[in-house]
Amino acid sequence: MAKAVKTYTVAIPSEAEVAARVEGLLGRLSLEEKIGQLTQIAGVPFFPGPEPAEIIRKGGAGSVLWLNDTQQFNALQKIAVEESPSKIPLLFALDVIHGYRTIFPVPLAMASSWDPSVAERAQTVAAKEARAAGLHWTFGPMLDIARDARWGRIVEGAGEDPCLGAAMAFAQVRGFQGPSVGTPDHVVACAKHFAGYGAADGGRDYDPVYLPETRLRNVYFPPFQAAVKAGVGTFMSAYMDLNDVPASGNRFLLHDVLRGEWGFQGFVVSDAMAVGNLVIEGFARDGRDAALRALRAGMNMDMASGTFSQHLAGLVEDGTLKLADIEAAVRPILAIKVRMGLFEHPYTDESKLGQVLAQPEHRQEARLAAQRSMVLLRNEGGLLPLAKSLKNVAVIGPLADSMEATEGSWMVFGHTPAAVTILAGLRARLPEAQVTFAPGPEIRREIVSFFDDMMPGANKKPVQTPEQAETAFQTAVTTARAADVIVMVLGENADMAGEAASRASLDLPGRQEELLKAVVALGKPVVLVLLNGRPLSISWAAENVPAILEAWEPGSEGGPAIADILFGDANPGGKLPVTFPRKGGHVPLYYARDSSHQPEDHPMYRSRYWDGPTTPLYPFGFGLSYTTFSITNLKVATSQVKLGGPVSVTAEVTNTGRLVGDEVVQLYIHQKAGSDSRPMRELKGFERLTLKPSETKTVRFLLGPAELGYWSTNAGKWVQEAEAFDVWVGADSTATLHAGFEVVS
Ligand code: BGC
Repeated sequence: MAKAVKTYTVAIPSEAEVAARVEGLLGRLSLEEKIGQLTQIAGVPFFPGPEPAEIIRKGGAGSVLWLNDTQQFNALQKIAVEESPSKIPLLFALDVIHGYRTIFPVPLAMASSWDPSVAERAQTVAAKEARAAGLHWTFGPMLDIARDARWGRIVEGAGEDPCLGAAMAFAQVRGFQGPSVGTPDHVVACAKHFAGYGAADGGRDYDPVYLPETRLRNVYFPPFQAAVKAGVGTFMSAYMDLNDVPASGNRFLLHDVLRGEWGFQGFVVSDAMAVGNLVIEGFARDGRDAALRALRAGMNMDMASGTFSQHLAGLVEDGTLKLADIEAAVRPILAIKVRMGLFEHPYTDESKLGQVLAQPEHRQEARLAAQRSMVLLRNEGGLLPLAKSLKNVAVIGPLADSMEATEGSWMVFGHTPAAVTILAGLRARLPEAQVTFAPGPEIRREIVSFFDDMMPGANKKPVQTPEQAETAFQTAVTTARAADVIVMVLGENADMAGEAASRASLDLPGRQEELLKAVVALGKPVVLVLLNGRPLSISWAAENVPAILEAWEPGSEGGPAIADILFGDANPGGKLPVTFPRKGGHVPLYYARDSSHQPEDHPMYRSRYWDGPTTPLYPFGFGLSYTTFSITNLKVATSQVKLGGPVSVTAEVTNTGRLVGDEVVQLYIHQKAGSDSRPMRELKGFERLTLKPSETKTVRFLLGPAELGYWSTNAGKWVQEAEAFDVWVGADSTATLHAGFEVVS
């Protein structure tokens, strides 16, 4: 084990101390410098304009993003604290989404663990590495609920459910920040993108969102409120229009809800260029109007658009804004800098980074996180786990040896992928066997991302000709034919999910399904490992491939972790945090829907569409294990509970198989009548447990007003109602073990 790196200790100051220091600092700043604190600039100049160093020297920036270079951080910080007029240190910010150097499974995968401690530990490591590099602030976690798998950014969040999403939000904030902002070896977190971004029309990134207040409050807000409860230091406003008001100029979101109702004390940064974009969106008349409306809505910091720095001074000078408005926006930014100890320790020790990044326990954490995040979707005839005595295995598919696809979307700026691929992981696990490999035809986006345009060298490989693709196809089939067992690694490239990576179809891209069919037709045992950042419509595979493992984008240790699962050194226990539709045309598809007048158990029910069943291919919460479980003995402590009181629900879970394994016990409720219709099922509690063969554990859930209340359209407020409730406990959202209780006034 490597020795822990010694870091300085910081005494976290009290609220009163912070406030006093902030007032002292404010008193030293000119109007221009105050506006500088509200300005975040790009450390790598993407846009024409003065050099970052020049802006910083004049006190024109409070924060720098899109830079990942410890020496340059120190050089710019030196200019800020020694040469700028008021010597306020800079906050260095970057997107550290699922790891800095040690890459963890993508957030959607971590949510599949249904184990918030996985996410907390991952973000603790990410924070430690990022902080050692000189970063103070990450633009994460992303907390957008996503119910439409076409939307590429579904990969960055925790999926479709507010209860699971809130648990993951809390855990990630604690992982990044520690118990409070300023904890050594941690960074400030940023809850983004507030709010509703995941409900973009048609799943098209950045397109407008229409969400009624009931859905915002019951579904889209809970992860954000959980982040506030965890003490998150910053929020990021979303890009798109929410109900015709851009999120970055939306006072209802940034002021009324965030500060007014939830008591958020930190600061809000816009998404990149979003303040300036208020003009393009047809909301603000011009840059001046955009700056005014964003600030009035509750925006503190303008990310990279330069709109605040250009217009705020003029708005104060002509009396449209008061100096007090500017100072109110600056205060929480200075408070974070004080709490982070930047005035005492503005610089980063460049000699320590290598040592922190080399800590082997970081890779070990990444491997455990990947194991716990994988979801076993099918295992006919107990094909998995595979025998370690296998002699001849073919690994087939375009992603099997791709470091990019293994690490997944949203790499830290400037990061070079360094994952152990599945091919490498399997070869290391089977040193005596012949492990052959053929990638088959390449897969690629039909329309390249603007990110590729910005990154020299990215995605510039020549396109395979149809003849080359055909040769690759035939080679893959021939390679598979010569093996005893075939592991097919299919899915999506890393650039196929993420920002600006939405798609209209959810099919396996390219010729992958055709290749899968050709390989299955060989009649040999086939295991399908999926690497992807969104649910895919794999209806054919679900019926024809005996074993399917959803590995998502598993990170640096993806290869070893997949080998652990395939050969039974780890037993899969993850569960889907999103519904898998049968076809792309079925989205948005999610379990927590209101009942129609003709629900699925109605005698006249056929399917919602006439061209096939519309039930999920795999339901929310679903996942298999190499062992089996039974969940029994559901008990509700009382059949009647007083309004406001808690109900205790217990159930027993038994490992009925022969291996140690994990089950995620899930509790769903349904309010049977009320001011509004309520969803047929809503997750209100879950627990992941490890059980030995024959072991039984009792799981206890407590349902109180927070779980039983909701925001009502008819009442126009939060209500808890004296009504009857169903409760189910089971292993996924189709659980049948049922009980009921009544809330009485
Ligand atoms: C994304 C944000 C990200 C920001 C800074 C934007 O394009 O929407 O999620 O934090 O860029 O990199």
